[in-house]
Parts: sequence; structure tokens; C-alpha cells
Amino acid sequence: MAENTGYLPIPKGFTTKAIHSSTDPDRWDSMCIVPPLVLSATFKHVKLGEYKYEYGRAGNPSRDVLEGSLSAIENAKYAVTFASGLGALTAIINCYTQGDHFVVGDDMYGGNYRLFEKVAKNLGVEITMVDATLIDNVKNAIKPNTKLIFIETPTNPLLKVFDIKAIAEIAKNNNALFCVDNTFLTPYFQRPLELGADLSSYSLTKYMNGHTDVIMGAVVTNNKEMHDKLRFLQNAMGIVPGPFDCSLVTRSLKTLSLRMQRHMSNSLAVAKFLESHPKVLKVLHPGLESHPNHALTKQQTSGHSGIMSMYIDGGRKESENFLKAIKLFIMAESLGGYESLAEIPSIMTHASLPAELLKELNITDNMIRLSVGLEDPEDLINDLDQALNAM
Ligand SMILES: Cc1ncc(COP(=O)(O)O)c(C=O)c1O
Repeated sequence: MAENTGYLPIPKGFTTKAIHSSTDPDRWDSMCIVPPLVLSATFKHVKLGEYKYEYGRAGNPSRDVLEGSLSAIENAKYAVTFASGLGALTAIINCYTQGDHFVVGDDMYGGNYRLFEKVAKNLGVEITMVDATLIDNVKNAIKPNTKLIFIETPTNPLLKVFDIKAIAEIAKNNNALFCVDNTFLTPYFQRPLELGADLSSYSLTKYMNGHTDVIMGAVVTNNKEMHDKLRFLQNAMGIVPGPFDCSLVTRSLKTLSLRMQRHMSNSLAVAKFLESHPKVLKVLHPGLESHPNHALTKQQTSGHSGIMSMYIDGGRKESENFLKAIKLFIMAESLGGYESLAEIPSIMTHASLPAELLKELNITDNMIRLSVGLEDPEDLINDLDQALNAM
């Protein structure tokens, strides 16, 4: 726990809740410890108009168990799960209509960007993208029809950190809702609702599941009106996760706190090593004192996960050589799993961003994003060292 010094405390009882909430054996006739995996696509009605579950898209016991755990670990009233992280954002966007305006942080996962640019705009929603590190940029972007502010923090792949409390205040003063994509930190390290946000959205595919074997998303909220809309859209748009995947994520939440602690200590060890490496120009990791938002990170989070980026000394050729040389790190998209991954955002995860925006944001071909996994840190450091020296 030493690395959490100076950060917000981890909420008391977090791990106990993650292990026990929503999975009480007394709920089930068999008293099973592991909640049953209910695959049935439809359910018997007790009599006309009376049923426990109606149809698998509308509701499923394995999904209910997971949604119960997700809301419990964030001390929230509601959680709604979706077929993917993008499915969760699709549902949020569809709560709005033509003529509504969104203010959106300018640095985000390429798929989120594509959804705003190529899907939300087609619905007639107006979008202003801003660098939300400067609070005035958010304030100045607000219009009379602004209904939603959406940010990722820390951002993907630049690891910028935005002030959740300050942005929540702007949203509140302008009758807009505020959604934070909390994929990178999970409620173990960051609790946006407690800082004033209205919605926490997730790609559960990442740390929440943590085993690289599920694609899923969720929205967690205390806002009943938004919950009701999202619950309706989950069924009406058919963007539901399967029960087997739900049971896998329920399993994974039991070890979330242990995994996140290890991601944090491993990624800090790696970041400190890379900061001192002659082939590395700059390391982006909010847990480093050199990070411009390190103080804010400590004010609003309980730590940082395994996601980080670095600029290597070179260009595309050196980045390619690096990716060819890694042996333990695997060249692949995604993040948040037990295994360590490396990728070039400009060519892989963020290829859907226009070239000018990539340039403006400084997402260059010598920027490599790392997802530091749970392996032995000295093995990870040795692997990065040999790959950097082979560039
Ligand atoms: C921060 C963030 N949000 C959302 C998503 C989308 O999630 P999914 O891939 O589960 O649709 C991703 C995917 O990489 C992400 O990194």
C-alpha cells in the first residue's frame, strides 16, 4: 500500500463489498457460493402478466448479479451493463436528440472519438471538443443547449488528468449532466460520482474484467431518470451482454483490488525505470512527480493503474523495431489485463483520429502506449531495456 501515500484513501470495506455484495448464497435454492450462470434465453411466466424474468434481452439473473456488484463497489444506486464500452456510450448518446450540444474532452480512445464524430453527429447532436485541462476551455464551450459534458480522465493515450470536481460544478451550474469514462482507474482508484459527476462509464473489457476474455461496458449512476432511460435503451436497442460474460466479470471483480494494487506498483516501477533510460524522451504516468497533473491526481484518485505512455528517441522505424524486439510485452491493442501489452496509438488504437488532430495532440509515431500487467516487475523492466537497446 506504500505507493498510495498522499492519495485519497481507498474506501473502507471496498474489497469486502467486491467479494460479497450481490452474491449472497442465500439468494439461491442451491445456496451456491458462485452465483449460477443462467443461460436461458427465455423464462416461464407464472401466469399471464406475472413473471420473475420475461426474456433474456430484457433481464437475466447473471446480469443482475453483476449489476448489483458494480453499483455496490461504487456506492451507487444503479448500474446498467452493455455489450461493450462503446455500447455503453451508444446508450448515453441515445438519451439525447437533435439540437442538443455536448462538450467532450479532446483526448480520448479512438473508438469513443469515432462514435461522437460519425454517429452522434448524424443524430443531429452538436459537439465541441476541448482540452479540459484548462477549466476555462470547458466553461467557454458551454452553450444554452449543452446537455452533456463527457471526459475520460486520465485520458487515452496522453494520460492527461482533468479536474472532476471543477467540471462537475460547471455542469451543475448549466443544467448539464457530466459523465466520466472511468475505464483507466476503476472505482478502486477513482470514484467520479463522489466527486460530483452524474455518470461513470466503463469499458469493463479492461481492468474491471482484467483477464482479456470479455468485451463489455457499463454505466453507473445515482440519477434515476438516466438509469430508467439507459435501462430502456439496453433492451430497446438490444445492446446487452451475454450471461456467460456477466459471470466472468462478476468473478473478476472479486480480485479487482489486488490486481489494481499490483498494476500500480508494477507500472510505477516501470515508469521510473523508463524515465532514467537514455532512449526514452518522456514518460507519461500520473503517478510520477514529473507529471504536470501529479498533484491533482493525488487530490482526486487513490492511485494509478498500469496504463502509461512514452515517447522514444526516434520515429516510426524505431517504434517498429521496439515492438519487434519485445518478448514479454505483447504487441496488441487493449489494456487492463493481467498480461503486459504495447502498441503505437497513432497507428493502432487511435488510427480513427484525423491526422491533423493526432498532430495537434502530439500523438506521434514515436509514442508507445504500455499496459503494464501483473508479471514480476524486474522481468518487465529487463524486457523493455533490451527492446529499447535493440531499436
Ligand atoms: C477509455 C476507454 N473507453 C471506452 C473504450 C471502449 O470499450 P470497448 O472496447 O469495450 O467497446 C475503450 C476501449 O479501448 C477505452 O480505452
